[in-house]
Amino acid sequence: MNQLRKKIVLSGMRPTGPLHLGNYVGALRSWLKLQDTHRCFFTIVPWHALSSEYENPKVIKDFTFEVALDWLSAGLDPEKSVLFIQSEVKEHAELHLLLSMITPLAWLERVPTFKEQQQELQDRELNTYGFLGYPLLQTADIIIYKAEVVPVGEDQAFHIELAREIVRRFNRFYGEVFPEPQILLTEVPKLAGTDGRKMSKSYNNAIYLKDSPDTIKKKISPMITDTRRKRRSDPGEPTDCPVFTLHRAFVNEKKREELAAGCRSATIGCLDCKKVVIDTLIEEFAPLREKRAYYLKHPGLVWEIFEEGSRKARKAAQETMEKVRQVMGLKLPLKDKAEEKI
Ligand code: TRP
Ligand code: SF4
Repeated sequence: MNQLRKKIVLSGMRPTGPLHLGNYVGALRSWLKLQDTHRCFFTIVPWHALSSEYENPKVIKDFTFEVALDWLSAGLDPEKSVLFIQSEVKEHAELHLLLSMITPLAWLERVPTFKEQQQELQDRELNTYGFLGYPLLQTADIIIYKAEVVPVGEDQAFHIELAREIVRRFNRFYGEVFPEPQILLTEVPKLAGTDGRKMSKSYNNAIYLKDSPDTIKKKISPMITDTRRKRRSDPGEPTDCPVFTLHRAFVNEKKREELAAGCRSATIGCLDCKKVVIDTLIEEFAPLREKRAYYLKHPGLVWEIFEEGSRKARKAAQETMEKVRQVMGLKLPLKDKAEEKI
């Protein structure tokens, strides 16, 4: 391989519906940059969604579509990156199965998200085989493309560490097939939602990328600010203000410093301060809303793009699986290839 070869990136998102500002800052924004410097694979992962939402499969199609819409509207570009749907590339499932043969149970049981999520989602049975295997499926997603870089938030760090361990184990048994993927931590300035808690779809406090200017205004205007600022003449502290988490993620530094100073000296009011971030968000996401409206009118185009992406991904995945089957002793002298059978 020459030194100019672009490094391979893979990242994924569960289809959970329209994306909010937190998803944008925590993932999409860094993916958009990587498109120009890396060979990127970005995947929507219905199988991961099913591992916890198996009782409610009806939403998967709609949610996959919403995520696909937001990706394209935000500027993920099928000319630059491979945009695809995990469950359309069945090779991921085959690799997941084969990896399950070499993965000690204890490695999966000690993944913190396993117990944490079970605690958090007590209304469902999550002591399942599939849920335990969630990070192993994620490993398959990553290594089947021989990805070297995985841009994710801190919450996924343990999963990537597991992927590295699996790769080392696999390579020790069967030879150097996979590179060890490296985590690329996306800085995640914690965004507050409209109720001041962490922005999250499940708290019903999120501002969505697709929100209209009017909705953005209506959501941010009544947000609580630093409680010290009871009156306009009371000075405040931006670091104690939920609204200012939005400034930190979206307003340029110079403007932001001005506002912070104005807050501390009580020379601006909270409404003035909110207006700046409201206007910034409206402007920043104007092109996104426009593109989104276009794709919404042409849903067939969205599906086509992901179909084509899935085809490209499948080709890469199949190449890897040829090698995997060979090193794991699964190449038999049969004429028919399994894939060619009807
Ligand atoms: N587990 C990831 C999340 O919840 C989603 C995911 C699935 C993923 N497969 C992946 C992320 C592969 C990075 C690489 O956010
Ligand atoms: Fe928050 Fe801005 Fe009000 Fe200060 S002026 S409390 S940073 S909204």
